[in-house]
Order: sequence, then C-alpha cells, then structure tokens
Amino acid sequence: MEIKFNDLFKQWEIIEKDVNPRLEELFKRSDFINGKAISEFEKNFAKYCGTKFAVGVSNGTDALKISLAALELESPCGIIIPANTFIATALAITYLSDLNYEIVLIDCDEYYQIDGDLLESYLKNNRKKWKSCVIIPVHLFGHPTDMKRVLELAKTFECLVLEDSSQAHGAIVLNKKVGYFGDISAFSLYPGKNLGAAGDAGVITTNSEELYDRVKSLRNYGSSKKYYYDFKGWNNRMDTIQAIIVDEKLKHLDRWNDMRIEIANKYNNLLKNEKNIITPKMAPYINKQIYHIYAVRVKNRDKFQ
Ligand SMILES: Cc1ncc(COP(=O)(O)O)c(C=O)c1O
Repeated sequence: MEIKFNDLFKQWEIIEKDVNPRLEELFKRSDFINGKAISEFEKNFAKYCGTKFAVGVSNGTDALKISLAALELESPCGIIIPANTFIATALAITYLSDLNYEIVLIDCDEYYQIDGDLLESYLKNNRKKWKSCVIIPVHLFGHPTDMKRVLELAKTFECLVLEDSSQAHGAIVLNKKVGYFGDISAFSLYPGKNLGAAGDAGVITTNSEELYDRVKSLRNYGSSKKYYYDFKGWNNRMDTIQAIIVDEKLKHLDRWNDMRIEIANKYNNLLKNEKNIITPKMAPYINKQIYHIYAVRVKNRDKFQ
C-alpha cells in the first residue's frame, strides 16, 4: 500500500467551500496586488502569533532576506545559525550584497535546536570582531528553540534575533507562539508546511512599527508611497490567491497541529521499545511542539527507509 508523505488534497477538501466564494469576490474586486485579502490575512496571522504586525511576502527565503535587510546591519556583521537547518536560512544571507558578513554555524542539541552552551561560548570568544550580530534560531521540525536562553544571550552580547519559524507555525514556548520573540520572524508558507499555500508564499511578524514599515517597503521595490523609492527593495509581494488559501487554512491550523501531535504520540508509543530508533524528544522548556517533521535517528538510514 502506498501512503502519501503528505496528502494536501485532504486540506483542500476542507477549505474549498470557503475559498471559492472568496476567489469569486477577489476577481470581482480585482485588487490583485496588496489588496484586501492580503491585509485580512496579515491581520489574522499577527493576531494568531500574538504580534503587533505581520507582512505577507513571496516565500520563506525572501521573508528571511527582507527581515535581515530591514535590520539595517552594520558591517562587519556576524550571522549565527544552527548547523542543522534547511539551506534557505543560510542562502538568504548571501543576497545582502552590501553587507560584509560572516556566517557562523553552531551545532544543535538533542532537540535539534541551536545549542545554547556552544552559542554562549562562541559569542564570548568572538562577538567583539563584529560591529553587529544576528542570531537566527530555527524552530526545526516544529520544536521551538529555547528562546529564554537565546534572548538572554542576545541581550548580553548585543545581538539581534531573527526567528526562522518556517517549520513551526503554532508551536509554543514561554506560553507564546513562535514568531513572537525575535526582533523579527520569518515564516515559509510553502505547500508542505503546517500552514501551507497552494504555491510559494511567506510571512514576516514583528512587534516593531519601524521594522514593519521597512519590511512593507522592502517587499515593494523599497517604496512606501507610489512612485517614491526610499531605498532599494525587491518585488517580493505575497500572491493574493495564496493569501486567501492560507487565511482559510489558518482557521484549522491548531486542530491540524493537534492531530499531528496525536499521531506523533502513537509513533512514540509504538516505537518506545525499539532500541535502535531514536524518536524525537521534547525539551522541558516547551509548551507545544507541532511535529512539522517526525524525525528519527537510526544507524542504517537507507535500509531503514
Ligand atoms: C527552516 C526553513 N527556512 C526557510 C525555508 C524557505 O522557505 P521557502 O521554501 O518558502 O523559500 C524553509 C522551507 O522551505 C525552511 O524549512
């Protein structure tokens, strides 16, 4: 029997009846660029994350790139990321052509998150070589990073924090959803994510009005007012049809995440006596992990697969 890794059609069957009339409305209004549906999703997503602002963008990689650009970093700049992440976390940095940056990879801990002790000792020995520094915790596989530790280190060593929340929509730590903690946070809405569009999309959250204004300009050529360009930006706006899709899926996200948790608990139970399979661990500091990926560690991976 073939079982799909991720059957996205099941999600469509649930949202179809609510999406279709909104598409009809969109075509009637024809406000295809930065229109009503975009601001509705942004408002709802900010509310969901508990942040003041959210800005829809073209994809998660661009969300990271725009977030970094909005921070207006001084050169030389150190950008610290976990060694264990998707390539886009690192790739986004390389698009900042005006910045003299150094990318540092820090190994992960048993929860696959950036290791706080290694991060601390790296900062102790190296922070002084840069004028600015950004820590990018990645809430990998849906498990939140220890944000208390990261924020303490960021304060001590004068670093900014950009959360890469692309794999953790709805995950909770310190009783807040991820995306709330950093100066700014980037989410991918790639179709296979826990909150996924029907194509490419991404979203940025922040509590800073200054960053919010800059991000809105950066996604729109660097323009906050039509035909006025404050700085060099990109055309990285969110597709309006995607905004409608993810806005409808957002209503189901907590329930869908809870279903993932139920399934993960089943796996945990069934695998608990398998000595050769290391199942995901939950750190004591988290409130909710949302199992974007149920990753196991085994010695003979290919055979096991
Ligand atoms: C951790 C992480 N960061 C960034 C991205 C990039 O997102 P996108 O594919 O939407 O550009 C992804 C997913 O693809 C991701 O998993």
